[in-house]
Amino acid sequence: MTETGVQDPFAHLHDENYAGPFEAGMVGAESHIILGGRETINLDGAWRMTLDLFDEGLRQRWYEANEDPPSQWPIPRDYEIEAGDLVPVPSCWTVLKPEWTYFEGAAWYTRHVQWQAGPEGERVFLRIGAANYRALVFLNGVYIGGHRGGSTPFYLDVTRHLTAGQNRLQIMVENRRQPDRVPMHHIDWFNDGGLYREVSLLRLPAVFIRDARAALASDGQAIRFTLALSEPVDGVGRVEIPELGLTADLPIIAGLGTLVLPANPERWSPESPRLYDVAFRVGTDTVQERIGFRTIETRGTNILLNGQSIWLKGVCVHEDDLVLGKVSTEADIRRRLTHARELGCNFLRLAHYPHHEKVAELADELGFLLWAEIPVYWAIDFANPATFADAKNQLLELVARDANRASVIIWGVGNENADTEARLAFMSGLAEAARMADPTRLVGAACLINRETFTLEDRLTQWLDIIGLNEYFGWYEPDFSGLERLLANSRPNKPVIISETGADAHLNHRGEGRILFTEDWQSEFYRQQFRRITAVPYIRGLAAWLLYDFRSARRQTGFQKGFNRKGLIGEDKASRKQAFSTLRDLYSTPR
Ligand code: GCU
Repeated sequence: MTETGVQDPFAHLHDENYAGPFEAGMVGAESHIILGGRETINLDGAWRMTLDLFDEGLRQRWYEANEDPPSQWPIPRDYEIEAGDLVPVPSCWTVLKPEWTYFEGAAWYTRHVQWQAGPEGERVFLRIGAANYRALVFLNGVYIGGHRGGSTPFYLDVTRHLTAGQNRLQIMVENRRQPDRVPMHHIDWFNDGGLYREVSLLRLPAVFIRDARAALASDGQAIRFTLALSEPVDGVGRVEIPELGLTADLPIIAGLGTLVLPANPERWSPESPRLYDVAFRVGTDTVQERIGFRTIETRGTNILLNGQSIWLKGVCVHEDDLVLGKVSTEADIRRRLTHARELGCNFLRLAHYPHHEKVAELADELGFLLWAEIPVYWAIDFANPATFADAKNQLLELVARDANRASVIIWGVGNENADTEARLAFMSGLAEAARMADPTRLVGAACLINRETFTLEDRLTQWLDIIGLNEYFGWYEPDFSGLERLLANSRPNKPVIISETGADAHLNHRGEGRILFTEDWQSEFYRQQFRRITAVPYIRGLAAWLLYDFRSARRQTGFQKGFNRKGLIGEDKASRKQAFSTLRDLYSTPR
């Protein structure tokens, strides 16, 4: 305001704290609501989108724009909803127009929602499956709240903000890479921006089920059910597994309840992905889940699934597509899993961030074991408490979302992070948070090599169940003798998985011997790696890096041209390289 109390039309040009008011209201894992087959109101489809390089939307309060055409404006404005491009949601703007490919900034998505109020006491939540990286939500010009983290769902209570009739829903999504974010500003995948997973509304009763889990108890002779309500009230819930003849009341005190029932369900495994229909009921609210019951544990350097030692024949996958960007459709996910099955895999590492929830749902059905992870990748700002809070929140949101997925056996808390005191505190804190949030699964990370002693040695391993080893002997380090030396020198007391190894190959580039970027060398690379890896008893699995070539702006040789070419299949997700059949044959040898 000026001295005369008149609104200064130019104030926004001088206010560099324009984003301050939107620090409050950021929601996280505490807002998570289990979907559990509940009916949702789908808001996907055509939205108006306007790119916003300078955060003008927050500076000039674009969220206060109404639907009036410019001819009716009293003063000029720099934003007009209808002038935005019509874009599909979910989508990544980075793949919608060539001129948007490398856009890193904010984008304003707007659509209208027709609304009719429900019964007294009804609560309505907006669910956003994922938005990379930060999102702010406005309804009818009012700021509702926001979220940080580019790959996990979040929920906002819009009960009091929806009005009967037409509502204006605006979501600002901003994908700037920053040193204090998770991941930070230097990554080896494409920084897709957008509202890129499903957007919906959820109508719930005044008191509803926020979290509902069922898993085999540690002795394997009972099923532990847990329930958490939206309110700290007392009551009685009901759990049902008809195929096991189980139905029982579950007492709830202050919004929480646990019940352990003797049961001996058929065990879930990749070979026999047996799922049961499980219902959780409280009042008028019902959650239905398809759950597989299995145990996963380590014993010495062994990994035991349902008490049996397993060897993880795996491949890493990114969410990356020439047409979809980071969007994963069911067809795209099924193609990924079909290729993994043809490769002979029983395991996938979902690099380097939480993948779409449909991946674990389909892995449950088709029988794959999964390493799911958060993007604590490379040089994270480990000394920054806000960065730790962001990483921990993404982890807790991933755990809350996929807690009932039998396929998920490992929570990965980081990848290739240099050893410092701050990093150790940060990542051991994440490992403990994972274990607290979910004691039924293993915790892993891609760990470090001690280059002096040339051993697999990383202080973080004492907080882990599984030691991940990313090694590229034969690619980034020319010969394989280093791998032999490393494996011979190391004495881990827990299972090791080769969480990454691979070599680039350009399709149809051929040659004899170690000629980089040839299909022949990529193929020979896997033969040389596999022989050495499988000779070591404490190595209990391999996640080849990786299934498909993917976009990476930091890869600019003639063979790469903006792609990381370590895929066993080209970025077209159809052209197989020689190494695909080589690894398939290696995996087909009995382990
Ligand atoms: C690293 C990293 C991957 C990367 C790969 C590579 O280990 O974890 O994200 O793409 O190596 O260099 O291709």
